Amino acid sequence: MIILGIESSCDETSAAIIQGEKRNGFAEVLSNVSSTSLNLHAKTGGIIPEIAAREQIKYIIPVMKQAFSDAKKQSHDIDAIAITYGPGLIGSLLVGVETAKTLSFVWNKPLIPINHLFGHIYANWINPPQPSLIKEGEQYPPDKGESKRVTFPAVALVVSGGHTDLVLMKNHGETVWLGGTRDDAAGEAIDKIGREVHFPYPSGPAFEQAAAKGDPKAHRFPRPIKHDHLYDFSFSGLKTAALREIKKQPLTETIINNLARGVQDAIIDVLTFKTMNAAIEYKAKSILLSGGVSANQTLRDTFAKTIKEQNLQITLHAPEKIYSTDNAAMIATAALFTGEETSWQNVTANPELYFD
Ligand code: KG4
Ligand code: ZN
Repeated sequence: MIILGIESSCDETSAAIIQGEKRNGFAEVLSNVSSTSLNLHAKTGGIIPEIAAREQIKYIIPVMKQAFSDAKKQSHDIDAIAITYGPGLIGSLLVGVETAKTLSFVWNKPLIPINHLFGHIYANWINPPQPSLIKEGEQYPPDKGESKRVTFPAVALVVSGGHTDLVLMKNHGETVWLGGTRDDAAGEAIDKIGREVHFPYPSGPAFEQAAAKGDPKAHRFPRPIKHDHLYDFSFSGLKTAALREIKKQPLTETIINNLARGVQDAIIDVLTFKTMNAAIEYKAKSILLSGGVSANQTLRDTFAKTIKEQNLQITLHAPEKIYSTDNAAMIATAALFTGEETSWQNVTANPELYFD
């Protein structure tokens, strides 16, 4: 099957063409092209929805043309069109959804609406499935990672700028939402703290670099509801504590590094603790990390270390870092494994979409 994926839920306009068969257990990316309006939002430290939507309109056709050209495919080669229909910013979503509906009608190709959050999770089925500890620049295993295919049951952690959720996957399409954040998402806390110390938006990558130089003993920030409320999360208390700390002192590089380290340690501690508890309770064979924050190497390393220390028979999966953040390849891959072909008349953008 060859699927065109389109992702336009926020600031990223992305189109991808993937190829694969569900029974093989992974998808091959033939092309994945993205354009972002991030630089236009950099000064405000957050996405301006109106600007994001206008930029989506500008880039949706060019990224799609490039995706076809990179994949050396034409419209008649594809079997279906996968489209993110939520959650996200309504203006941005509408650009992708209405474009995909039009193409579905004109090309007479089935349309597959995809929940962006499942898209993130399915980045773990992109070939070669990336064992989390392979660092950037290293070679993939000679079997192209096929031995690392995901086995069920799996516990998936979606950790992004908008979401922090834990999902039990018994099989493709058989999922149970276990819990999520009650206030800020982990990435949102990182971005809001990063803004106060003048990191570029989004702050994740700068945060990670600063944290690597920070003193782990300088701060012990709160780990809200770590031991309560099972698989729910809360990061606003941590954010407030960090912002209070920032106001106390002049911001030198050392102070910023220590602060980033303290915040990152607290977030990773809670994410690892709750995900591991869920994996043990549900006898998971795999843990799947996904979403923008899962690009954080310290997060990946901490999970791997914890699984090893506890001597658990759990395989840790994390997407290649380019597929951790928003992209269309993950949307097309989710369609390959879980998608239901839907008539274009029945597909509507839903900014509030969540897990069932
Ligand atoms: O999944 P994503 O691209 O967009 C959403 O769906 O939200 O995630 C973006 C989030 C931002 O909050 C960004 O700061 C965070 O992912 N992020 C990181 C890293 N790279 C991106 N957080 C921590 N460490 C990183 N290396
Ligand atoms: Zn996302």
